[in-house]
Amino acid sequence: MIKIGIIGSGAMGIGIAQVAATAGHAVIIYDTNKSALEKAKTGLYSTLKKLVEKEKISEQKATEISLLITYAADLKSFSDCSLIIEAAIENLEVKQKIFSELENIVSDNCVLASNTSSLSITSIASACKNTNRVLGIHFFNPAPLMPLVEIIPGISTDINVTETSRKLIDSWGKITVLAKDTPGFIVNRVARSYYGESIRVYEEGMADFATIDWALREFGCFKMGPFELMDFIGNDINYKVTETVWEQFFYESKFKPSFTQKRLFEAKYFGKKSGKGYYDYSEGAIKPEPQKNEELGKQIFNRVISMLINEAIDALYLNVATKEDLDLAMTKGVNYPKGLLKWGDEIGLLNILKTLTDLQEEYGEDRYRPSVLMKKMVKENKKFYS
Ligand SMILES: NC(=O)c1ccc[n+]([C@@H]2O[C@H](COP(=O)([O-])OP(=O)(O)OC[C@H]3O[C@@H](n4cnc5c(N)ncnc54)[C@H](O)[C@@H]3O)[C@@H](O)[C@H]2O)c1
Repeated sequence: MIKIGIIGSGAMGIGIAQVAATAGHAVIIYDTNKSALEKAKTGLYSTLKKLVEKEKISEQKATEISLLITYAADLKSFSDCSLIIEAAIENLEVKQKIFSELENIVSDNCVLASNTSSLSITSIASACKNTNRVLGIHFFNPAPLMPLVEIIPGISTDINVTETSRKLIDSWGKITVLAKDTPGFIVNRVARSYYGESIRVYEEGMADFATIDWALREFGCFKMGPFELMDFIGNDINYKVTETVWEQFFYESKFKPSFTQKRLFEAKYFGKKSGKGYYDYSEGAIKPEPQKNEELGKQIFNRVISMLINEAIDALYLNVATKEDLDLAMTKGVNYPKGLLKWGDEIGLLNILKTLTDLQEEYGEDRYRPSVLMKKMVKENKKFYS
């Protein structure tokens, strides 16, 4: 069994460590912040305890997992790792520094991976002398529960590194998809409209948060409405990803962040974790009731789903991933009830195209432009799946 190194012991780092140790690997984890490392250790013990109580794992397995994980005081102890997954804060300079330091410690065939949500893998790798062994291995939160992992080769990643890493993560019981090194990869790119278009609907005064959430749950069968979901993810994290994706797309208008979310972020209304976000989570707070108007609800759902499907089609058109991986990513990474391309077939590409062209005409905005591939497929009367 190869030894796995994890850098950063926050929510993601310790979660990935748990996954790797559960698969039987010796794991070493490091964090610059000693108290964060201590917190991760106690957090993991209580997670494992709960898993035993719920009879998800045996007591023996929990002990094995704990014994497989060691907590390092510096990076030197990573010299015998075969794969290192970096999950430190989302900052390019910090990540580049970690990678260039690691290169001087590890063996030539150790693979270096980043769990970044939105930074370019190629830019992280550029800090290394050997860029061939660097790739993105992107887990979702919480890593032990979410099945999806995006595998992202950078521009110079060796194909064998990509393939062996993918096989390894598959062997951990995860579902892997291959994504091109473009901003947001698959999920964080395609899912942007779920939030962005819903906020637009709110900003225009079409409906309030509770009504929009209801519409997406009721007519789209999404487990959580966009505002509930943003409050759950954290508006700090969600806003930062939105901003980074927009900037990295050279300020592409369809990804433009909103003032609504920016003000929430500035006010530290982060959502559930801070007690206030789009909704109030303080004790005794009453959750607002939606306005259950079927016509309005369907209109909202239609607008949001059309934007989502359009983005998935554009990602396919631009070779971000295969159609199968695009659909898997959205169902397994963010629990969408259906893959978006399959959904597009069901609603009918002609209907989606009509919604978007109507919106584009009404607003005169580029954000609603339909994907070239969608137009082509409508013209040729094609579907994604027969
Ligand atoms: N939280 C999510 O939903 C999520 C999902 C997927 C990917 N990610 C990505 O995973 C990474 C970590 O996210 P997180 O939510 O666990 O963050 P976090 O803030 O919970 O943890 C980050 C940890 O990195 C440590 N750190 C900072 N600089 C370091 C350094 N130089 N060396 C070692 N450790 C260092 C911090 O002390 C902190 O404990 C980020 O790149 C993030 O974009 C996050």
